[in-house]
Parts: sequence; structure tokens; C-alpha cells
Amino acid sequence: MEGFQSMTNVDGVITLTEDARIPVMDRGFLYGDSVYEVFRTYGGVPLLYDEHWARFENSAALISLQLGLSKEQMADEIRQTVSLTNAAQSGRDVYVRFTMTRGEGPIDLFPGPDLQTRYVIIVKAMHDWKPEFYSEGVNLAITATKRNPKNALDPNIKGGNYLNNVLGVIEARAMGADDCLMLNAAGQITESSNSNVFFVMDGKLVSPAETSGNLRGLTKAAVREACRARGITTYEQEIAPAAVIEATECFVTSATREVMPVRKLNLGNGTTVEFPAGGGALTRQVQGYYRDYVDAYLASHEHLSFF
Ligand SMILES: Cc1ncc(COP(=O)(O)O)c(C=O)c1O
Repeated sequence: MEGFQSMTNVDGVITLTEDARIPVMDRGFLYGDSVYEVFRTYGGVPLLYDEHWARFENSAALISLQLGLSKEQMADEIRQTVSLTNAAQSGRDVYVRFTMTRGEGPIDLFPGPDLQTRYVIIVKAMHDWKPEFYSEGVNLAITATKRNPKNALDPNIKGGNYLNNVLGVIEARAMGADDCLMLNAAGQITESSNSNVFFVMDGKLVSPAETSGNLRGLTKAAVREACRARGITTYEQEIAPAAVIEATECFVTSATREVMPVRKLNLGNGTTVEFPAGGGALTRQVQGYYRDYVDAYLASHEHLSFF
């Protein structure tokens, strides 16, 4: 049986990821002038590809980027790239990151009309998070680094410029945490570096309001939908750090983390809030709801399987 190999597709040229190259004059490299999405497969079926594409289109619109491929063309390129990884033969699920840059041109911030977009699809084996992140939980810290304001670099632009998030996670690690929880300029909680956050407050599931400035996470939306289907109301509201001292549970969501409990939250002011190891009762319930949601999705989308 052949082993898995990570493959990358740059404008239709598929090579081993370690051999993939883009020109240094690409604006994605020079300015982070690009948009991207990440999804994973389950048994070869891509989870929520249509929804990822819709968010990709929204990110592109927010940066005035005309996408150079259709949803179907991108899916076809992804499928071809996956087929060269030996994912099927090695029984590995994959992580897919597709990017579109504004292309290469002169060193000039203004994107001229002659630029041609470039796409890059990276396919690698789905990685495993540390088991402790589930058996215990992840440790977060509220950083001094604030989330980009919506009216500067809208967090709904899932773009190649993630320096804000990089600085947040660097600061959180220096504080001894695994990841950051960033506030907006008004001091309200927004999100972690690459995941959305939920709290259990007064027995209710609450996540930060979209107006606080955070990415519209697809896993968060799936969790909310799965809860709604079971008659559990979830809430979105502005959340100040002081309010979470009383929170009884906390978890983060993303395509690759799924529903990951938070063990400790360092508020950055000398106070650390602790949550139940491995997630409290509601967190574990939500983990189950999300698994069921994924299973139902897979059952109705088998025809999309990459292998
Ligand atoms: C900043 C940020 N917030 C939240 C998320 C979670 O989004 P999703 O659930 O769609 O993976 C991500 C993941 O890509 C992210 O980068």
C-alpha cells in the first residue's frame, strides 16, 4: 500500500508540497493580498464545501477580488490534487487549504487591472490535535493584542494577512497558554486565533456577537444549528471579560478542532477562570450534537467523496 504524500496545486501544476513554489512578486507573498479557506474530509467526503465556497466568495468581495475559478473548477482541481496524495490507499482523511491571490505584478500597493489571480491548493494529511486538548482542554489567555477592528481589516475577510492572529498566539504562548482570546477595541471578547469561542453562562450557550468582530465560523454555525434542531437556544451577545468569571463552561470551534473544551482562561489581569476537565456536561453534549450533525451531512453527501 502506498503511503500518503502531501501534494500542492499551483495554478494547475501539482507537485509534492515541499517542491511547490510561487513567484516572489506574487501579491499574496508581498502583501498578504489573498483569500483562503480550510476544510477537512471525513471518510473522503469534504465537509461543507458549498458553505466554504460561499465564505470564500464573501472574503473575495470584501477585498474587491474577482475570483479566477468557479466553485466547480476549484472542486475539480482539489479532487485531482487529493487523488495524487494516496489518501484513499492510505486511508487518511485530508486537510485542504485553498487560496486565491491577486497574482503577481509590480511592487505597487494599488492592484492594477492586468493582474491575473493565482490559486494554490495545499492538501495534507489531517493532523491530530494533542489528545490533552480534548481529555483536559485547551488553555487560552486574553492578550493585549486586540482583534483587528471591522472597519480596518474586517475579521470576516479570511485572507492571507493573519499577522493579527499570529501576534495574538505569540503573546498567548509567552503567557503560558496554548492560544489567545482577543478583545476588540471596546474590550469585548471576539474570538481565538483560528477558532470561535462559546461560553456557558447562566446555563445558556453564548458566543460573542458578530458585531464584536469575528469570523463567521462554519463550525459555530453548525453547532448552533445542531442545538436549534434539539430545541436548545443559543445566544450571541457582546461579552466582556468580567462576565466570563461566572461562566461554567467554555469551548472553541473550528473545522479542524471541531468542539474543543477550554480548561483555563487567563483573563490577563491576574485572574484565571477554570472550566471542567474534558468539558462540562453541556460541552460534551454539544460535542455529540456536532458529531451527529457531521454524520448526517456525510450520509447525504456521500456522492461528493474524493475517494
Ligand atoms: C479567525 C478564525 N476564527 C474562527 C475560525 C473557525 O472557522 P470554521 O469553523 O469555519 O473553521 C477560523 C478558522 O478558520 C479562523 O481562522
